[in-house]
Amino acid sequence: MKGVFLDRYGESLDNLSYKTDIPVYNPQKSQVLIKVKSTSINPLDNVMRKGYAQSIVDLKLKLPYILGRECSGEIVRMGDDVWDFEVGDQVWSATAPFSNGSHCEYVLVNESEISKKPKNLSYQEAASIPFTSLTAWNAIFNVSATVTPEKRVLVNGGNGGVGFFIINLLKKHLGVHHVTATCRPQHFEKLKLIAGADQTIDYNEASLLGKTDTQLYDIVFNCVDGGEAMEFKCVEVLKNGGNLIGFNGPMVRYSDKDGILQGLTMGVMESNKVSEKIKQKFNKSIKVDYTLFTPSGETLKEISKLYENKILLPNIDKQFHLSDIKSAYQCFESSSSNGKVIINI
Ligand SMILES: NC(=O)c1ccc[n+]([C@@H]2O[C@H](COP(=O)([O-])OP(=O)(O)OC[C@H]3O[C@@H](n4cnc5c(N)ncnc54)[C@H](OP(=O)(O)O)[C@@H]3O)[C@@H](O)[C@H]2O)c1
Repeated sequence: MKGVFLDRYGESLDNLSYKTDIPVYNPQKSQVLIKVKSTSINPLDNVMRKGYAQSIVDLKLKLPYILGRECSGEIVRMGDDVWDFEVGDQVWSATAPFSNGSHCEYVLVNESEISKKPKNLSYQEAASIPFTSLTAWNAIFNVSATVTPEKRVLVNGGNGGVGFFIINLLKKHLGVHHVTATCRPQHFEKLKLIAGADQTIDYNEASLLGKTDTQLYDIVFNCVDGGEAMEFKCVEVLKNGGNLIGFNGPMVRYSDKDGILQGLTMGVMESNKVSEKIKQKFNKSIKVDYTLFTPSGETLKEISKLYENKILLPNIDKQFHLSDIKSAYQCFESSSSNGKVIINI
């Protein structure tokens, strides 16, 4: 099959090589083989190719391997224990980085990581959603913050895959009265009209408070990998007792350095330290949660209904063919796409 191998870790895009003779594996037990129609690039792919989470990934996967955490396509073969799907089903999926990914023609995934794709979305649109939407779903429903319509919410990094989904879900599905989003000024219109944001702020502004509506927020979703400085910028605009929800917690960093068990413990300790540091610096009590992507076909099924009922909308822009993978990554790194970067097979 056609596919793109990551041959070695590093900055160079020459480490990605397009091949046409990669073997196709047969699905075992509860696995399905998907003929990939479209896939995408996520920040995780871009940092994994440079060596992020290497020691965790190495436990299951050896170089050369295939990146790509989400896709849409058609089931072409199934293991003997798959009962809920049929060959020919049009599906979407997002997988954890412990197996070869979807930057290729055929990908093996567990039945538990797929659902039927929304009927009204193209393969390209569908490939842009599973990984980020599952991450966002966890951040909204599985943390200590309870999102209710009265809560004032800020989504920092609103034009990214995770941020756009959060704004859209909060406004169109959960009926949150006020959501502010940060992005570049050229995306203001889109985030208001399509995602549904009430207020937009240029992320280069010194403060993340609105110019007209200057009240503090109850919850900030920080979808930007900007380190402590960015977290503090978010805390400045949170009410005392508010919640900061981040996506770049210390767990993976520590697990990569010290092994999974010790890393998870260190990660939890570090998260607690962040709350303490905030208390001292800002004299505010802020609950900090870091969330992680979790694969789930069941949740994807729920999300699929929200797209089919036109409650949520996709956010894609530039598209590339798999053989032009280096241009796709260049586009991703330069932030020159006005939505998710899609790769067609
Ligand atoms: N822990 C997990 O399991 C997990 C899973 C998924 C994602 N993540 C992390 O979550 C974050 C969001 O993911 P994503 O897929 O949404 O990434 P993304 O699509 O790359 O979006 C990031 C967004 O942040 C914006 N941005 C860049 N610099 C900014 C700044 N200084 N202030 C405000 N916004 C800024 C970008 O805007 P421009 O492009 O316009 O500059 C972009 O829209 C990433 O850091 C990713 O690594 C973690």
